[in-house]
This record gives sequence, C-alpha cells and structure tokens, in this order.
Amino acid sequence: LIAFFQPKRLAGKKLLITAGPTFEPIDPVRGLTNLSSGKMGFALARAAAEAGAEVTLVAGPVHLPTPRGVRRIDVQTAQQMFDAVLPRAAQQDVFVATAAVADWRPATLAEHKIKKQPGDAGPPSFALTENPDILAGVAKLGSRPFCVGFAAESQDLARHARQKLERKKVDLIVGNIGAATFGRDDNALLLVDAAGERELPRNDKLTLARELIAEIATRLATP
Ligand code: CTP
Ligand code: CA
Repeated sequence: LIAFFQPKRLAGKKLLITAGPTFEPIDPVRGLTNLSSGKMGFALARAAAEAGAEVTLVAGPVHLPTPRGVRRIDVQTAQQMFDAVLPRAAQQDVFVATAAVADWRPATLAEHKIKKQPGDAGPPSFALTENPDILAGVAKLGSRPFCVGFAAESQDLARHARQKLERKKVDLIVGNIGAATFGRDDNALLLVDAAGERELPRNDKLTLARELIAEIATRLATP
C-alpha cells in the first residue's frame, strides 16, 4: 500500500540503473569480484518504478528478486555492463550508476582451469587491464541523461565525492556515509552536487531510495 501511494513524480520518465558487483573471469572456475549485494540499486529501481518511471535495471551477479514493473538485464562483466548500458543511455532521462564495477580485469582469460605447478614454480601472476568507465562514458554522450554516480570511500568522503563529480562530469554524486555498507540493509547517504551537500540520515535502503528518487525528481523539474 505504501508503494501504491508514492507520488508519481517520475511519470513518463525513463530511468536506467546499474546494480551489484561485476565478475571478471580468470579461468572457467575463478574470477575477480567484490562484496556489493546490489540492494541499494534494486531498492532504487523499485522506488523509481513506484514513482511512475519506466525502469531498466542492468544487474551484475546478485541474488535478488526483480522489483515489480522493472525490466532487468543480467550481465557478468564490466564490459558486458558497458555494452548493455551505452546503446540505451541516450534515450533515458536519468542514469544512476550504483554498480560496484570492477576497475580491472585479468588481461587474458585462460581457456582451461589454471593448475598448480609442481616444484617451485610458485603461484601464477596476473596482468590486469582497466575496465571501461560506464558512468563517465554515459556522461560524455552528446544528448545525455541526468547522471547520478555513487562513491564508496573509506576516508574523506565529501572531498572524494566532489572530485568524482568533477572528474566524471556528472550531475550528482551519492556517497555512502560510514564503512561497510555492502550487504547491509541500512545506509546513510551524502548528496554532493554543484549546489552543495545534503545528508540523508541513516535509514533502511528502501526508505533512502525513495528519498533519493524524490531528490532526483526535484532536480529534473528544476534544471
Ligand atoms: N563506475 C562505472 N564504471 C566503472 C567504475 C565506476 O560506471 N568502470 C561508476 C560506479 O558505478 C559509481 C561511480 O562510477 O557510480 C564511482 O565509482 P568508484 O569506484 O567510487 O570510482 P572510480 O572512478 O572507479 O574511482 P576509485 O575506485 O579509484 O575510487
Ligand atoms: Ca572503482
């Protein structure tokens, strides 16, 4: 019922959201990933759909149900996430990058499982190569949506968030206040944009998602 009575502040708007971790394979049985649960991105997709938006959710490997009314595209790697997002981005009103995209991937993918070497060959070493920056890629598009990034920092949140706002040339950066947000059901957020800073105090992720969607709707209405 609460969902039904959310104001339809995003009616007629299209939102594209990335969520979860990415998984970068090393060989057929191993890979690089991180502890992102996808909960914040899925909560935002739900809150945006409640607000009347047409929502596309590009999700890395997570174990979460698809929110009602949301179109979901599952991907594994950062490159696949990039390939799913970029062709759709110009048609969107808003892009929200909540995904914890792996910054690097193994430079080569072993066709077969890497075996321990006998003797003193030691462990294998891996060369890494940088993944494309999905958020910066969308922000660079000619006709681009309102772009929102997330910043996971372990120190100096406000300073790093503002640096990301400027470096990626996005409209809003949302920082997680306090460590260890990954996997938790609650969070506290710091909103950083050209106008200043604003804190959304600690709450469950769905409540915060609804507050953040309201903040985004306000910014869309008053550009
Ligand atoms: N992001 C992205 N594609 C990447 C890396 C990050 O879209 N390859 C997005 C994230 O979804 C997030 C924002 O960029 O919205 C910031 O991600 P973060 O990891 O904090 O920033 P980086 O630029 O990767 O810098 P660093 O990890 O060194 O802090
Ligand atoms: Ca990163």
